[in-house]
Amino acid sequence: MSANALYTDLSGYYDLMCLDIDYQAQSSSIDRLQQIFGNGGNTHLDLACGTGPHVRHFIDLGYQSNGLDLNQPMLDIAQLRCPEAQFSLQNMSEFKIAEPVDLITCFLYSIHYNDGINKLKQCIASVHSALKSQGVFCFNVVDKHKIDNALFVSHTATQENSVFTFRSGWHYSGTGEQQSLQLSIGKTTGEEAQVWHDEHPMVAVSFDELTALLAPYFEVHIFEHDYEKIVPWGQSSGNAIFSCVKI
Ligand SMILES: C[S@@+](CC[C@H](N)C(=O)[O-])C[C@H]1O[C@@H](n2cnc3c(N)ncnc32)[C@H](O)[C@@H]1O
Repeated sequence: MSANALYTDLSGYYDLMCLDIDYQAQSSSIDRLQQIFGNGGNTHLDLACGTGPHVRHFIDLGYQSNGLDLNQPMLDIAQLRCPEAQFSLQNMSEFKIAEPVDLITCFLYSIHYNDGINKLKQCIASVHSALKSQGVFCFNVVDKHKIDNALFVSHTATQENSVFTFRSGWHYSGTGEQQSLQLSIGKTTGEEAQVWHDEHPMVAVSFDELTALLAPYFEVHIFEHDYEKIVPWGQSSGNAIFSCVKI
């Protein structure tokens, strides 16, 4: 299957796959970071917004929130979920918006969808240009050196007469600037079983490398990957929330 199959042909299953994600807690947590570090404004853009769950929560929190994504089937679902928002079909590596905003987010490790370090650099520069003064850029990210290739997360969900099993894990060879996200979706309906496998190539980066890429544009704050409380990153965990204030 193509790397985008999950976001095109299987987009109807995406929300089922993400059923155990607390989108409200994630959005509220980033809202708190924006209140602490940001400029007090309420305009927001979500990069790689998918089916728009964060955009929905940010609108409900009082933001004027919009989204962009590379796959139209995901945006079609987002538009139904958030009729008041504008969604644009754009690549986050080289996006442009009409008016700068106060907050830009990128959730669920989607920043890794930048196709290599050069595209990641372009994305960072694009975000910087798209932010107002003291605007904030928040995203979650995984350090390539801390990836455990043996680790997978999985969960099951039932829809109508079918049981779905979703499985995902990171893989990094140990060298270079590419890692992959390995996904599988299993669907069992009565006696019939189907399985889809997706492997998504993604940019691999260490936190030190990423901090250096961000430093010319942002004051960088790193927090533990915890959406319930704001705790400075203790230097050991391999995933974190980056909160970057435009300089
Ligand atoms: C894991 S999903 C995350 C969706 C959403 N942020 C969430 O938390 O549910 C990744 C999304 O990134 C989008 N995507 C992949 N590459 C992209 C790119 N270069 N620019 C913009 N969106 C991209 C995919 O279409 C997909 O909707």
